[in-house]
Amino acid sequence: MEDILVQVLQRITPSEEERTFVEELTKELRGIAESVIEEAGLSVIPRFVGSLAKDTYLAGDHDVDLFLAFPLETPIEELRREGLKLGEEIGKRLDGYEVAYAEHPYVRARYRGVSVDLVPCYDVRSWRDVRTAVDRSILHTRWVNDNLNGRNNEVRLLKRFLKGIGAYGSEIYVRGFSGYLAEILTIEYGSFVEVLNQAGRILKRRVLDPAGWTEKEPAVAMKTVKREVREDKPLIVIDPVDPRRNVSANLSWEKYGAFYLRSREFLERPAVRFFFPQGKSIGSYLEELRKRGTALVTLLFDVQDIVDDLLLPQLERSARGFEKALGREGFEVLGWNVGRRGRAFIMLELNRAERERIRLKPGPEFFKESGQEFYGKNEKVWIVGKRLYSERTISESVIDVVSELLRKNQVALGKGIRDAVRRADVLLNYVPKELEDEAYLLLSREKWNLKG
Ligand code: CTP
Ligand code: MG
Repeated sequence: MEDILVQVLQRITPSEEERTFVEELTKELRGIAESVIEEAGLSVIPRFVGSLAKDTYLAGDHDVDLFLAFPLETPIEELRREGLKLGEEIGKRLDGYEVAYAEHPYVRARYRGVSVDLVPCYDVRSWRDVRTAVDRSILHTRWVNDNLNGRNNEVRLLKRFLKGIGAYGSEIYVRGFSGYLAEILTIEYGSFVEVLNQAGRILKRRVLDPAGWTEKEPAVAMKTVKREVREDKPLIVIDPVDPRRNVSANLSWEKYGAFYLRSREFLERPAVRFFFPQGKSIGSYLEELRKRGTALVTLLFDVQDIVDDLLLPQLERSARGFEKALGREGFEVLGWNVGRRGRAFIMLELNRAERERIRLKPGPEFFKESGQEFYGKNEKVWIVGKRLYSERTISESVIDVVSELLRKNQVALGKGIRDAVRRADVLLNYVPKELEDEAYLLLSREKWNLKG
C-alpha cells in the first residue's frame, strides 16, 4: 500500500517549479487586480479561493479562482454591474477573456496558459452575510486552511482516487464528490486510507457535522438535516461555514456506491490503476448484442442551444420516461445511457425487439361459400350474429411502439427537449460510428465502467 501511494503521490504532487510558477502567477494577478481596483476607485478586495489557495490542487491542474470581494453594503445590482466591469478591465490586461454566466455573470480570462476566473462576490465574514451562491468560497478557503494541518497530500490522493473511479466533481452531470467535500472528509478522518476505510460507516452515520452546528445552531442545522433526509440524500455534511447547507447535496447514490465498492476493492488489493485507469479496450457493441440477445434502441435528435448542465438531467428524465412507458407496453428496459455527441442521444437496451399481438380477424357470413372456406382455414373460429370471426397474431416492432407512444404523447419527457425528442430518428440495433463506444459501454456493463 505505502508503495502504491508513494508512486501516485509522485505523479500528483506539484513540483517545486510548479509551485514557484503558481506563486509568481498569484502575486502578479494580485498586483494587476489591485491596481485596476484602485484606478476604478473601488474598495474591493481580491481574494484567491479554490484548490490553489488551499494548496490542494493536483499537479498540472491549477486553474485560478480570483474572487473580487465587495463590501457588504453594496447593492446587488451594483455588485453585478461593477463586478463584471472590473473583471473585464482585469481581463484586458491578461491574455484574453470572455464573459461566462452562472448565477451572476463573471469573467473567464487566460493568463500564461492558465485559466483565471474573476468572480464578483460579497466579502462575507459569516454565513449570515451570505447573499450569493459563490460567497461561501472565501469562508471555505479559510476553514480548510485553518483545519487541514498539513494533510494536503492526503486530499490530493483522495481527489485523484475519486477522479480515477469517475466520482469526482459536483457538477450536475457528474453528481460526484466536490473538492471541498474531499477536503472535509480528509479533515474529519485524518487520511486518505482512513476515509476509504470508513466508506461504510460514513453511510451508516449519514450526518457529518465537523463544525458542531447541531449544538451551536440546533434549529437551523436540524432543518437542514430534515430537508436532506426527506430528499433521500446519501450523505448529509453540514457545511462547517454554513449550517443551512449540505456540502454533499449534489452527491448521487450511484457515485457514493462507486466509491463504496471501489474503496473496498482498493483496500484489499491496492493498485495504481484505481487512480489512473488504463484506457480499457472497447469491444464491439454488435458482438455484445448478439451474445446478450437483447435489443438496442437509440433516439437521436438535435439540441443546439441547451448547455450540458440543463440537457443531461432532461435526457435522464426522458430515458426514465421511456422505461416506464415501454414497460407498460410489454418491453422491459434493462439499461439506458444518455449524452451528447454532436446530436443528443437516448439509448435503451430492451429484453426484445418485437412483441406478439392478437388482432381480431372478421370473416364472411357463415352461410356464404367463402364462409366454409374461412371456417376450414382458421384454427380458431367463432360466430357473432351472422358473421364468422377469427384472430391472428402479428408481431410489432419496438420502433413502431416508440413512434406510437411519442405520437400519442405517452412518454414523460424532459420539458426543454420534448419537441426535439418527438422528431428524433429512432434506430434499432445500430448506432452511428461516433456512438459505438457508448453503445459498447452500455451493453457490456464492465465493472471498470461502473456507471452512475
Ligand atoms: N464549491 C462548493 N461547492 C461545490 C463546488 C464548488 O462549495 N459544489 C466552492 C468551494 O468553496 C470550492 C470553490 O467553490 O473551494 C471552487 O470550486 P472548484 O474549483 O470546483 O473546487 P476546488 O476546491 O478548486 O477543486 P479543484 O482542484 O477540482 O479545482
Ligand atoms: Mg478549482
